[in-house]
Amino acid sequence: MLKRISALVLAGLTALAVTSCGSGSGGTTSASSGGGDSTVTMGFSQVGAESGWRTANTKSVQESAKTAGVTLKFSDAQQKQENQIKAIRSFIQQRVDVIAFSPVVESGWDPVLKEAQNAKIPVILTDRAVDSKDTTLYKTFLGSDFIEEGKKAGQWLVEEYKDSTDKVNIVELQGTTGSAPANDRKAGFQEVIGADTKFQIVATQTGDFTRAKGKEVMEAFLKSTPDIDVLYAHNDDMGLGAIEAIEGAGKVPGKDIKIITVDAVKDGMQALADGKINFIVECSPLLGPQLMDLAKKVVKGEEVPTRVVTEETTFTQDQAKQALPSRQY
Ligand code: AHR
Repeated sequence: MLKRISALVLAGLTALAVTSCGSGSGGTTSASSGGGDSTVTMGFSQVGAESGWRTANTKSVQESAKTAGVTLKFSDAQQKQENQIKAIRSFIQQRVDVIAFSPVVESGWDPVLKEAQNAKIPVILTDRAVDSKDTTLYKTFLGSDFIEEGKKAGQWLVEEYKDSTDKVNIVELQGTTGSAPANDRKAGFQEVIGADTKFQIVATQTGDFTRAKGKEVMEAFLKSTPDIDVLYAHNDDMGLGAIEAIEGAGKVPGKDIKIITVDAVKDGMQALADGKINFIVECSPLLGPQLMDLAKKVVKGEEVPTRVVTEETTFTQDQAKQALPSRQY
């Protein structure tokens, strides 16, 4: 009996140690469910807080968990894969019912996903994918088609310059190196513009999906690269940072340099409505309700589709003016 009590005390202490280890790796917070009939506990490892999109996504996940009666253990990885791996291991030790995460980069997940599988804890990928060959390591992937987003950006550009035979010099601000949206938005865009040699990407560099880095890299592009016609930024935040750099260099964003971005968060939409951005491809961060629904099904052992693609649109300047008043994020 004493042995059993000691074991229980030890288990309790281990769980406490695991929680504080999670906090050290970017902060783990626990939120109780706000009612509902379910007792599902979800461990969620978020990428970070790098952009307006990410803030909206975190809010969507946290609010939906409350509405769905899911207890959420939330961990912010501060854009570091090692923090996400630590958080996932901590969730495994805490024996959560389901783990959901948005992988900061695509590769390097197999060992920790195998640990979750061995512990019989289902995993859901949300927002970003992993490149694991073994697709049994996760139950489903909920998120956008980033290749399609890149293609939509390219298609707008092709249409915009359809009557011109001149060379079009493009600079590209990529998202976080190795992340699915950076890889796929680049590939989709390249596939479309690659059909016409007049389109040339004359400079490309990561801006890490942040406004500050977007500004810094655009300043460097403006110094090193003459005659920039177009900026393609993999998200609104980098585009907004770049606008500051362009204005700082005495040029007019949206006119001297045409700008295409991805996301359609409020600040981006405002810049589009103001004529500083020319076209935005939407990437919806409102994944929370679908995520909670999938999580409950997976925990019950119900079948779920292996891929759930988010529905998205695109915005011109006129469409942004119409959509802005009712924009949720
Ligand atoms: O994974 C989605 C991307 O991550 C968003 O487009 C970007 O803003 C965010 O940081």
